[in-house]
Amino acid sequence: MKPLGISSDRCLIGGSWVAPQSGKVLDLINPSDGTVLCEIARGAEADIDAAVAAAEDALQGSWGKATAAERGRVLAHIGALVLENKDTLAELEAQDVGKPLKQASADVLALARYMEFYAGAADKLHGQTIPYLDGYTVYTLREPHGVTGHIIPWNYPMQIIGRSVGAALATGNACVLKPAEEACLTALAFAELANRAGLPPGAMNVVPGLGAEAGAALTAHPGVHHVSFTGSVGVGKLIQRAAADNIVPVTLELGGKSPQVVFEDADLEAALPFLVNAGIQNAGQTCSASSRILVQQNRYAEVVEAMANRYAKLRAGPALADLDVGPLVSNRQKDIVEGFLQKGADLEIAAQGQVIGDAPTGGAYVAPTLFAGVTPDHVLAQDEIFGPVQVVIPFADEDDAVAIANGTDFGLVASCWTQDGARQLRMAKRLRAGQVFLNNYGAGGGVELPFGGTGLSGHGREKGFEALYGFTTLKTVAAFHG
Ligand code: NAI
Ligand code: MG
Repeated sequence: MKPLGISSDRCLIGGSWVAPQSGKVLDLINPSDGTVLCEIARGAEADIDAAVAAAEDALQGSWGKATAAERGRVLAHIGALVLENKDTLAELEAQDVGKPLKQASADVLALARYMEFYAGAADKLHGQTIPYLDGYTVYTLREPHGVTGHIIPWNYPMQIIGRSVGAALATGNACVLKPAEEACLTALAFAELANRAGLPPGAMNVVPGLGAEAGAALTAHPGVHHVSFTGSVGVGKLIQRAAADNIVPVTLELGGKSPQVVFEDADLEAALPFLVNAGIQNAGQTCSASSRILVQQNRYAEVVEAMANRYAKLRAGPALADLDVGPLVSNRQKDIVEGFLQKGADLEIAAQGQVIGDAPTGGAYVAPTLFAGVTPDHVLAQDEIFGPVQVVIPFADEDDAVAIANGTDFGLVASCWTQDGARQLRMAKRLRAGQVFLNNYGAGGGVELPFGGTGLSGHGREKGFEALYGFTTLKTVAAFHG
């Protein structure tokens, strides 16, 4: 496949398309019908070595010497090229990940926004002067880590590239990106567009491959100075352990079990689209998906009924049919989600959407499912499902709501629906999450908004200006001049 001039079965290293040194490839599957879209490179340790070396060369060369304003200009140019190619990027993502076309298009716009935001931010990051002893001038410098490793998942490739590579390049790092084996095409396309935009060769390298091969090699590489990872808790632990050997910082974004808390005085009409969409967007394969809906007892039946009515109208089908829900990314992910549905056999199904009748049989479809009357300790109310599945849990009062909302091992996003201003402020403080939404739900959107978790959801913050601190290290300079 050669859309946008990419070579889909190669790595992009040092500005050139190079075959993986082993010569091995992997099949990239279209989850809408189970067919092979194309072959991708099965990169491994030797390719990671080459990519890290190319990144280091870029830092020693023109990229390392570029001013902040010059870096920002390149990012702005990349953003413009992303917008110019938005339809092609959206189609690639839709076919690769199974996203309905509208959702894939929204991801393209988010990618462009990240480039615009970090383009503008690049020359706004600066150090401080610090009053000190007589005869001294002390100041701080914000410096790039050097070579940054980016291991990303398949659920939002473009958004995650935008937020992590955007901030890393803005601050003058050189990147090695390992996309997920399930979805690589927009990562390769992005790197090609970045090269066309004038990013020096080696400043951004892409090595597709398996997690246990290319991913593990990137994490363990002694020439990598920072690792950002988005994905499962299990792999997050491996990454943090590997980073310990090299004593390098990591940013981990590991998903969640994010609640929306609906109080008795909530504006249900305003809440309803958020309650459902935040659960089924991207077929629920969203780190910040709202998979738990907590409802105060006296509105509980009403909320379940209103959500069930929406669920009954949801339709799942091929990405290019652009329905409410696409397939899951793979049949492996479908098996995971179906396993959870079986664990919910003891629960009441309030409503299910439909997989359209002519959906291809090889596709990874799961009918959106709403469970009601769920107890907070049920496995479906505790574990991340990563599919179009939500549970509704009743609660008695504010303390009860907080206990249930904070009663999982995760803490990524939470939201609270109430008209009571004092309660809004109390809840914002009491909810355990990296982002709290009051009378809305962000579902991971918001380029400008710092994002990340606590507990098993991970640590470190991406997005917004805050991310620039994570991608830099601080040097203090103390000058004695008498
Ligand atoms: P995963 O964590 O295995 O994959 C994410 C990325 O990590 C991919 O690029 C993969 O190649 C890489 N990877 C895998 N093993 C690695 C290793 N040993 N060293 C370095 N990199 C490695 O996630 P997977 O298997 O695709 O999904 C399983 C579950 O993980 C999902 O059901 C969901 O619960 C969670 N998940 C959460 C995401 C989030 O946005 N926070 C994204 C994707 C998955
Ligand atoms: Mg795919």
